[in-house]
Parts: sequence; C-alpha cells; structure tokens
Amino acid sequence: MEEKDVFCRAIGTETDIVQKEMYEFEDRSGTRVALRPEGTAGVVRAYLENELDKKNGLEKFYYMGPMFRSERPQAGRLRQFHQIGVEELGTNSPYADAEAIHALTTFLDAVGAHGYKVKLNNLGTFDERKIFRGELLEFFKPHAKELCEDCKRRMEKNVFRLLDCKVETCRKIARQSPPLKKFLTAESTAHYEKVCRALDALKISYIQDDFMVRGLDYYTLTVFEVTHPKLGAQDALGAGGRYDNLIESFGGPKLGAVGFAVGVERLQMCLEKQNDAAPVRKNSVFLAALGEKAFQVAFGLLGELRSHKIAAFMDLDGKSLKSQMRSADKSGSRYMIILGDNEIEKGVAVLKDLNDGSQQELKFTEVTEIIRKLNG
Ligand code: HAM
Repeated sequence: MEEKDVFCRAIGTETDIVQKEMYEFEDRSGTRVALRPEGTAGVVRAYLENELDKKNGLEKFYYMGPMFRSERPQAGRLRQFHQIGVEELGTNSPYADAEAIHALTTFLDAVGAHGYKVKLNNLGTFDERKIFRGELLEFFKPHAKELCEDCKRRMEKNVFRLLDCKVETCRKIARQSPPLKKFLTAESTAHYEKVCRALDALKISYIQDDFMVRGLDYYTLTVFEVTHPKLGAQDALGAGGRYDNLIESFGGPKLGAVGFAVGVERLQMCLEKQNDAAPVRKNSVFLAALGEKAFQVAFGLLGELRSHKIAAFMDLDGKSLKSQMRSADKSGSRYMIILGDNEIEKGVAVLKDLNDGSQQELKFTEVTEIIRKLNG
C-alpha cells in the first residue's frame, strides 16, 4: 500500500491503471492510499526515502509479492496477482537494459518456460514523445469516426495507446500512422542500437515491434515485453523498460533506471500447460482402507508417516475403493498403500507405485522405513 499520489505521479494520471484500476480508499488519517498495482513506483519512493541515491552508484533490487488491479477478470487477468520484479536504479547505460532483459530470459529458461518471444521497442524521451504526440493526433483526427469507443477516448487522454489497440479497424489505421522512429534524436537512436548489439552479444533473440507501447507512462527509450503462445489473449508473461525521468519526478536527482516484472500466475499457466503431457507425481503417500479395522490401522500409519515428515493423505469418509483411487490420483501422490481385511489378518499392506503400477506387500512395521528409502 502506498499513498495514491505515488502511483499517479509514476504511472501517469491518464493511464487506465490510475483512472480505473486502482483499489483506493481513505485511511484513518484521511490520506488517500491505494493497494499497489505494480512495484516500480514503490521501489523508487523507498530508494529516495532511504537516500540510496546519495550512494553514488548502481543499486539493484528485486521484489516478489501481490499486486492489485481492478480489471475485468479473465484467464490470465486477475484482480490480485503476483509479480517478481527487478529494478536497477542509478544507471543510464544501455548495457543495463540488456542486462535486465538477460536476467529475465535467464530466469525464464531456468524455470523451463520455453517458447517465449522477446519484443523490443524504443519509445524515445519525454521530449521526443511530446512532438510525436502532436503528429499522432494530427494523423488520427480525420479517422476519429472509424475508431472504437476506447480509442476515441484515448485520442483525448493517451493517444499512444491507440497504437496497440487490438480492434482490427483501429489496427489497420494505426499501421499507417507516422513511425515514432522519425522523431527520435541521434542520441536516443544510438542508445537503442547499443541495447540491440548488447543483446546480440548475449545471444538473445528479439523482435523489433514498432507498435509496442506500454500501459505505464514512466517509460523512456527501451521497452520490452515477453510473450508466450500458451497464454492466449493476455499473452504478456513479463514486461519492463527504462524509466529515466521517474527518480527525478519524485524529487530525486536526474538518474536513469531500468527494470521488469514477471506475472507469476501467467508463468504458472505456461509451466502447467507444458507439463500436461507427463504429470509429475509428488513423493507423497495416499492410504486407502476398506473396512473399519483397516481404516484404524491406516489412520495410525497416516500419523506415523506424517511424524516422519512424509506427506500422507487419506479419505476420512470411508468411501468405496474406486472413489479412494480417484482421491489418490487427485492428491498427485506417487505411492498408494492399500489395506483391507485380508491384509489386516496377515499384518501386511500393499504398496503401489502409481508411476509404473508396480506393487509389493510390506509388513505394517516396515511401511515408514521403506517409503523413506524409496524417497531417498
Ligand atoms: P506490467 O506490464 O504492467 O509492468 O506488468 C508486468 C506483468 O505482470 C505482466 O506482463 C503480466 O505478466 C503481469 N500482470 C499484469 N497485470 C496482471 C493481471 N491483472 N493479472 C495477472 N497478471 C498480470 C509493470 O507492472 C512494471 N512495473 C514492470 C516494470 C518494472 N517496469 C520497469 N520495472
């Protein structure tokens, strides 16, 4: 939670996030506060509050935690979601942009989110964008009637967002608009060129997307987005960019910064879909019992396994074996222990490995020891 103004100042008062998506309210002291819709604004606020800008060097941070946006919920778009974010504050180097993108791709590779794409664009400085804004307005004005309702509003508030509207008629018009590149100075172009060459050196492939703009106003120069084909309409797995005016706009010195954030739930969606083919069973145990006596013995074993820190589950309602098999499957357990009257008489239990279907008989007294050995 931050003072609302922290987000307004950073993200931009005319953005969708500030206009429609923040959970905001007045606290007991009458201060207008908001649940954080993103992490960057708070990091910059804390960086200055703790005078880290005076340390004269690069400061790197990461965060993991919940974010809140009151959007219309759909697959991959939640009102409370989680981000893992990275921020590098106090640098204007284009190599920092490449380093941030490298951190992102290294992370995604490490967790196994294969098949993503990195999209890159240069949004220029605030001054360059001011000129571009005027040109864009001139271009879109004669097309105003053909635009969707959202874009009609965007014409007034945030004309850049017209460039990445998903509505086909708007897209067609936007494709004809003057490119931002035309309004960039040699300095901005050179910065971006260096980022591209640094990414080449890191062997990161990327796609140049001239129409990629972001929903947050603080970005300058490099912006990037990682998309994944398994995500559907909300296909951004992570995104970020450079924000060279933000520290100054919070009353700090003129220092550059760059960062990104990954959406944890979207990452999970990619990984789950990838793992669909071969579900990974956990090394836990499901105990199935038939009959009251067997149930009592099984329940004793459940406690014994748990006290040895082995995750164990049981159906406490004494349902049919078939239903217990279903519960075993749902628990994702690798092992199943089956106990019926026959087994109780013999003092044994049947241990089934659900990975390969193999089974063996064990004495009650051996169960915990054998499972521990199997789990290594
Ligand atoms: P963002 O593009 O707004 O950037 O969000 C980053 C990521 O958070 C998205 O790519 C997506 O994976 C996830 N995300 C956003 N909204 C939702 C939602 N409603 N439900 C589920 N996931 C969502 C930022 O937030 C910037 N602060 C990133 C940044 C850091 N730029 C510089 N430093």
